[in-house]
Amino acid sequence: MKKNVVSLAVLGAFLAVGSQAALAAPDWSKVPSKNIELFHPGATPIEWVTKKSDHSGSSGLKKGESCAGCHDEKGKLSLDLKRLAGKELEPKGAPKTMNFPVGVQAAYDANNLYVRLTFKAPAGAADQSDKENDVKATVMFANDKVPQGEQVGCWATCHNDARTMPGADDKKTKYVKEGALDLMQWKSGKGAKAVDGTVTDKRAMEGGKAGVTAEGSKAGDTYTVTFTRKLAGGVALAEGKAVPFGIAVHADHASGRFHHISFGYKLGIGADGDVKAVKQ
Ligand code: HEC
Repeated sequence: MKKNVVSLAVLGAFLAVGSQAALAAPDWSKVPSKNIELFHPGATPIEWVTKKSDHSGSSGLKKGESCAGCHDEKGKLSLDLKRLAGKELEPKGAPKTMNFPVGVQAAYDANNLYVRLTFKAPAGAADQSDKENDVKATVMFANDKVPQGEQVGCWATCHNDARTMPGADDKKTKYVKEGALDLMQWKSGKGAKAVDGTVTDKRAMEGGKAGVTAEGSKAGDTYTVTFTRKLAGGVALAEGKAVPFGIAVHADHASGRFHHISFGYKLGIGADGDVKAVKQ
């Protein structure tokens, strides 16, 4: 009898802690959602997008235009997805669904940034080599030293010699020539931990300084993934500033470059941006 009383008290304490944590999280019903279209990019690394004979957009990039500036028309992709699925740009085979929207919400308080992604992950991947995770969702933030970071987003990290690129070394990961990005990732696999990583001269899937936590759930066919990270850790975020970011989803056990990704966008934290984080 006495034992039961003790365990009830312990349970009560746990519940109290649990509801406190829930109160600290943002009230998402008050945060607008912006749809960002993700697409399968084939094998179009930064070397491809910056080479004139491959990509006429390379001259616009030199003049300071951004990928999204040319390819995102009010939330709709202006891209030849059939070409991206074809043998020229996707030698291994393209996923059945080339693009899908992700709802993006963001909020912040004195210490943390919260990002929530809502999406339906399509089946029909061409590569299914991640046996442990059905789905992974990733967000990267670039600091201001990344070459053309505001224009090219994650393409700054994507090179033709990185693993899973045609003919590349299978140990080399994504990297930047200068600067750094924070990488946060949620994995659907049982017991998987949130990734608090970085991309510098190589990619590290741990050791980041942003204190990332992530929670994900699936209701029907819709995934909801919520990230929490420190404003001040790693790539320093701060109120009044905007930071370049990009999103990737690995759907249906895809790995490596076989993801759906966004162009680079700006997240405004109490500042202007493609997505505006709401203060809570
Ligand atoms: C100045 C406008 C402009 C900019 C900036 C630009 N592009 Fe393009 N992009 C184009 C045009 C035009 C095409 C189609 C013809 C071609 O391939 O040159 C294209 C083609 C592509 C394709 C192949 C699919 C297709 O529609 O033919 C991809 C992938 C692509 N761009 C990605 C990017 C990425 C990534 C960036 C930023 C790093 C970028 N583009 C920046 C204009 C641009």
